[in-house]
Amino acid sequence: MDTAKPMSYFDQVQEAASYLRSKLGTFRPRVGMILGSGLGDAAEGIADPVLIPYSEIPHFPQSTVEGHTGRIIAGSMGGAPVLVMQGRVHFYEGYTPQQVTFPLRVLGAMGLGAVVLTNAAGAISPDYRLGELVLLTDHINMMGWNPAVGPNEPRFAVRPRAGLRFFDMSEPYSPWIRGLAKDIANTEGFDLSEGVYVAVSGPSFETPAEIRAFRTLGATLVGMSTVPETIVARHMGMEVLAISCVTNQAAGLSSTPLSHEEVFKTGQLVRSRLRRLLEQLAPGITALLEANL
Ligand code: HPA
Repeated sequence: MDTAKPMSYFDQVQEAASYLRSKLGTFRPRVGMILGSGLGDAAEGIADPVLIPYSEIPHFPQSTVEGHTGRIIAGSMGGAPVLVMQGRVHFYEGYTPQQVTFPLRVLGAMGLGAVVLTNAAGAISPDYRLGELVLLTDHINMMGWNPAVGPNEPRFAVRPRAGLRFFDMSEPYSPWIRGLAKDIANTEGFDLSEGVYVAVSGPSFETPAEIRAFRTLGATLVGMSTVPETIVARHMGMEVLAISCVTNQAAGLSSTPLSHEEVFKTGQLVRSRLRRLLEQLAPGITALLEANL
């Protein structure tokens, strides 16, 4: 009889992180990025890339959605070392909350201090234009679950006073990184508006009544990702910036039915703007993290 104890979630995360460290040698990124649906091309400008498919990393969940490549690219973005995840997994694919947030736990275990999350989102507010990039200032979790449920694991903390059972979410999205992103957009000459993202589990898109309800609650964007990642990043004490790409009007606001093709196509339109933004965020965030040490 096999009496070996199954490996704990914490140990699985450590094993995945050790594997990545063994691939990366002395490379020490401070910033991680997750590129969502149709936004993976923003990683094209990475110099000296090392590509690591998710399928090679122990315990790493595999993406099943079209438009999500499923690999890590480590390299230099705008002169700063970064770890970029092209593609993520979602709850609607059948993954558990722990699996959905496993990549974030690995970024924490790699010693990263900040993460930039990108996603495709539907516009609840009529003020957004298709293809617009929006900085999240806050979110509403309508997924019906929280990825931090379960025994608390303080060893996930990346800094002192993090990794708590009950942790603060009063500033989920870093004001200083948001300020940096706005400065970059100003210099580059494009708009970067702000919004509140409501996360739903999917995979069905919302009904018009749900969108009206979310608008009443104060949400301006809707999507099926990001919030679980932000929650575990904040549990660990990482700084978070989240950028939504407005790919469609939310249900009931336009006469055309929603489709994944529409979401995917609009994502490709913004790739050059997103790429320029990320290429300046990488060195900017790295410098700010180092100054705050
Ligand atoms: N709803 C939910 N998720 C989405 C949408 C949407 O309209 N667009 C892109 N992701």
